[in-house]
Amino acid sequence: MGDVPISPVSPGSEPVQHYDTVVGAWGKLLEEDLHYGYFHSGTEPLVDATDELTNQMLKLADLEAGMQVLDVGCGTGKAACRMAAEYSASVTGISPSTECVERAQALAAKSRQLDLTHFCDGDGTAMAFDDISFDRVWVMESSHLMQNKPALLSECARVLRPGGRVILCDIILKRKLALEEVIQYRDEFLLLRDVFGRAIMEPLRFYRQEFELQGLSVLTETDISEPTFPTFFQWRKNATENRDSVCELIGERAWEKFVLSCDVLAQFWKQDILGYGIITAQKPS
Ligand SMILES: C[S@@+](CC[C@H](N)C(=O)[O-])C[C@H]1O[C@@H](n2cnc3c(N)ncnc32)[C@H](O)[C@@H]1O
Repeated sequence: MGDVPISPVSPGSEPVQHYDTVVGAWGKLLEEDLHYGYFHSGTEPLVDATDELTNQMLKLADLEAGMQVLDVGCGTGKAACRMAAEYSASVTGISPSTECVERAQALAAKSRQLDLTHFCDGDGTAMAFDDISFDRVWVMESSHLMQNKPALLSECARVLRPGGRVILCDIILKRKLALEEVIQYRDEFLLLRDVFGRAIMEPLRFYRQEFELQGLSVLTETDISEPTFPTFFQWRKNATENRDSVCELIGERAWEKFVLSCDVLAQFWKQDILGYGIITAQKPS
């Protein structure tokens, strides 16, 4: 790894404040969607690949007009606006980040989806919604930021209507790490925590077990580590191309750390330490 010193995590690295701080710069590094890309050729533009990851989730969501959808960790609202515009679904997006909620509201206004979308402050691990109030729960790359994942998954099951589905994608832990590896990669893990916020990754089978504990049946469970792998090269390319504007927003040190984090993630993908998965589960009718 390079010689950029790793600072201990500050309160600003907690998910809420973290997203308020970085969302402007993320727009230039990760594109408008705050998630990975799903690549077919590996050379397509990142924006096509991030849309394609949403397409993969949409296929599994099997949306119909009039459905009530909850988007947990709505980011900048792009997926929610697509669900409204393309499927006439009614989408409620929650995020504890004020900046994300405001950006999502602005995008809904710009894309004329204010009637079908609603964005508000909310925590996926303690939701302010009644039981059985949604047909679909959409959890796109936000679960890694929730320390109490059993609480998130039981909340998803609680708010789902009978026959309803939860569709979740996220970074996953591919294998158990020996203590020696944790020590060996300590600086790399600290760097990722600094850049992306405090996260916990779990294997896909953890999500399966938790959904089953909640009485849901797992419909699909897919490892998409390979098609998401080119994401890091595209993020790095964006970082190089947008260096000045990103440094203006988050400073040069944060820019340097972001670039290093792309290499660390690519290395962890190659070593089968981290990867990416999608899982769909259904509540009995
Ligand atoms: C990587 S972004 C993904 C955003 C969006 N789903 C997307 O795919 O573009 C993670 C999102 O999760 C949100 N988040 C973090 N902690 C959360 C929590 N406890 N409950 C709900 N959302 C949370 C963040 O504010 C951010 O909007």
